[in-house]
Amino acid sequence: MCGIVGYIGYEQATPFLLKGLEKLEYRGYDSAGIAVFNGNRIEVIKSKGELKNLRETVSKHKIEGTVGIGHTRWATHGRPSDINSHPHKSCSGKFAVVHNGIIENYIQLKNKLMNKNINFVSETDTEVIAQLLEYYYKGDIIDAIIKVMSRMEGSYALGIINSDNPDEIIAVRKESPLIIGIGDGENYIASDIPAILSKTRNIYRLENNEIAVLKRDSVKVYNLDKELINKEKIYIDWDISAAEKGGYEHFMFKEIMEQPKAMRSTISSRVKDYDINFDDVKITVDQLKNLRKIFIVACGSAYHAGVVGKYVIEKLIKIPVEVDIASEFRYREPIVDENTLVIAISQSGETADTKAGVIKAKELGARVLSIVNVVGSAIAMESDDVIYTLAGPEIAVATTKAYSTQLAVLYMLALKFAKLLDKLSDEQYKYYIDELNALPDKIEQILSNKEDIQYFASKYFNCKSVFFIGRNIDYAISLEGSLKLKEISYIHSEAYAAGELKHGTISLIEDGTFVIALATQDFLFDKMVSNIKEVTTRGAVVLGLSCGHENELKAVTNFQFFIPKACDIMLPSLAVVPLQLFAYYVSSMKGCDIDKPRNLAKSVTVE
Ligand code: F6R
Repeated sequence: MCGIVGYIGYEQATPFLLKGLEKLEYRGYDSAGIAVFNGNRIEVIKSKGELKNLRETVSKHKIEGTVGIGHTRWATHGRPSDINSHPHKSCSGKFAVVHNGIIENYIQLKNKLMNKNINFVSETDTEVIAQLLEYYYKGDIIDAIIKVMSRMEGSYALGIINSDNPDEIIAVRKESPLIIGIGDGENYIASDIPAILSKTRNIYRLENNEIAVLKRDSVKVYNLDKELINKEKIYIDWDISAAEKGGYEHFMFKEIMEQPKAMRSTISSRVKDYDINFDDVKITVDQLKNLRKIFIVACGSAYHAGVVGKYVIEKLIKIPVEVDIASEFRYREPIVDENTLVIAISQSGETADTKAGVIKAKELGARVLSIVNVVGSAIAMESDDVIYTLAGPEIAVATTKAYSTQLAVLYMLALKFAKLLDKLSDEQYKYYIDELNALPDKIEQILSNKEDIQYFASKYFNCKSVFFIGRNIDYAISLEGSLKLKEISYIHSEAYAAGELKHGTISLIEDGTFVIALATQDFLFDKMVSNIKEVTTRGAVVLGLSCGHENELKAVTNFQFFIPKACDIMLPSLAVVPLQLFAYYVSSMKGCDIDKPRNLAKSVTVE
């Protein structure tokens, strides 16, 4: 969602702030702004729309100073406009604030301040924070912040500068992520790592209710009792080029192409000579033996990875698995106890609903294992065990390589648990490990045929609607293929369990409706042929996707794409790649903003 950056050092702040905001564009935004202390007062420049608007204004009104904060806003309270953009100042101009998150009780707080004749200029909840700071400030900034925090309900990451203490930036976190970059004679704040990666790899992650005071040569972090806290430095070993486009037109395409590498890293970090090393996962064999149920809790594509996980885990471990959308899980009454394992899946590790699901599961007594891409993120910290996917930074809003690595971890987890529980013979286990190790090369093979997918896209990029159908694990992939297409191309699409079509949805099939039919599972191939015939006899044009059965598939479909053969449970890792490419090419042909689709944000840190 919104992005925060901040700089304090000896250089001009503005170039860093603009560059940092550019690196956070992928999170989604509709306006941007910066505030810099110019030696006398805090100057603010902000613009609705893309960052280039802000750049243009900044180039006309030079804004000089070595301490500043910046923000990309994704509107929640108040429409996108110059006025509603951050930073927001307090009435005298003493404080400037950037904010990610939502202040739930801002109306009460605003009314209270308005009754004291404090005027507001914007419709935002954030302006309330700036005004409250000034209202409670009696000469000690930390005291004022603690007071303001005690009044606010909701989630917030804050960057604050104030003209009484011009040589510092204050950073505050509650629920919404915020990191501090540690430099040499300069320090930074950011809502996400890519913003500071070109400057430093050493960071602190602020935890809930922590307040950091950044000066040029020091960073001090306090708790709500104003006690100093010792923070552990985290080193970020991401390859800096991974957060750059590196000659590709779009991050999404680059990340699709990076999947073999991401899969190799994730698998080889764990699998050596037929051993899967999960020594860092502390769940014991006895706990595994006592497991009655596994829940997988996640949102969006991570949820779709979970749906694949259900088929894989139930097949290999024979324990019932329930996959739940995190925003549903957190507000229902799931039957969870100490004999339940909850697996939370999240690329960002910051998704508000997934995090709430983790907290709820722990309260109910379950053990929580998370599969997360961002080291030290909130979900990782909340979980009993964490397995990191080694996808590297994922910048495009639509996930691709993180999703693929989530599948890889789910396969490894299922295989490891199945082995520990004696659910697989040595022979079966070795077969699956060989199949796992072979996946990156097979994905490479599919990517080398990307032009075929580009051709299908060129024929159908103008269509109104696409249906994805599949059975069993192919249904799980249909869900992901459909989401990828709709989120970046804005084409209506639906995913259906192929056998379910005739219970209603088939009435939508008419002459020319485009259907993508996944038929990778040998044992269900004939059933899929019947379902394909059901739609073709009603006029559908069908692209069939399989890994064999060439002649039979050609006989019933208009177009075909064949993926390499693999064991049934791992076919999703291959089948998803052409669907990602299809979504990408369709979106590119339609001229959509692929990396930053409308209304979407990379990291959803609010409910
Ligand atoms: C779709 C997509 C989203 C995310 C979802 C969860 O391409 O990226 O559906 O999968 O918002 O995000 P994380 O994995 O960060 O919890």
